[in-house]
Amino acid sequence: MRKGFFVTGTDTGVGKTIMSMALIRALDMIGVRAGAMKPIESGCGSEGGVPIPFDGMALKQTARMDEPITLITPCCFESPLAPLPASEIEMKKVNIPAIRNAFSKLSQKYEAMVVEGVGGLLVPIKKNYAVIDLAADIGLPLIVVAKPGLGTINHTLLTVKYALREGLAVAGVIINYTMPPENSLAEETNARVLDKICPVPVISIFPYLKNITDESLERTVRKYFNLQILKKYL
Ligand SMILES: Nc1ncnc2c1ncn2[C@@H]1O[C@H](COP(=O)(O)OP(=O)(O)OP(=O)(O)O)[C@@H](O)[C@H]1O
Ligand SMILES: [Mg+2]
Repeated sequence: MRKGFFVTGTDTGVGKTIMSMALIRALDMIGVRAGAMKPIESGCGSEGGVPIPFDGMALKQTARMDEPITLITPCCFESPLAPLPASEIEMKKVNIPAIRNAFSKLSQKYEAMVVEGVGGLLVPIKKNYAVIDLAADIGLPLIVVAKPGLGTINHTLLTVKYALREGLAVAGVIINYTMPPENSLAEETNARVLDKICPVPVISIFPYLKNITDESLERTVRKYFNLQILKKYL
């Protein structure tokens, strides 16, 4: 059976990459060697015509993988867009079988996989294929990364309930501070409200880190992650 997590978010820029890195460290702490993938990445850099997927590279480094980056991120676009419009503009197809093959290969080598999605669940990849379909194909339970402030209850419940209704497993939610706290009333109450009404548990309220390094991530995971929730899926 495949083990690991598919990391999605309520939006783009909520901290999926940083939380995927934190999850790799969390699994390491539990004694599970994790590999990682960012199967499709938009807004990639380029050097001499070779695409540079920044998220894929960060995951490769955190998971200390020696596989080529093309296996970790098989599909790159330079346009900072959802994959469907990016693929139309760049006239390049998203090759889902190649992504599935890369995932199969990596999941044979690693005990668990941490796979970062693209934006949120309904981001289009192909005309009739969105991130939720990719998540279903990959077959790992979801972790939903959410913002801490006002609006997050609605966005989180929309994401979690939609995934559950589509028959996907959702391990839990991570509320992540990509910015220093505003100490707003919403920030103070959101986790409690979600704990009460969200059908899946809050795995972590992850604080803002001034310096993101392997060490600071590990220290923060140790303090702020509920590893018991993760263990249920390993
Ligand atoms: N806990 C944190 N502390 C400090 N900075 C953070 C934290 N989480 C995320 N950030 C910063 O917020 C920004 C967005 O995070 P990240 O790139 O992980 O988001 P994402 O959801 O992966 O975005 P994308 O949709 O582009 O893949 C980055 O600059 C990242 O360094
Ligand atoms: Mg990312």
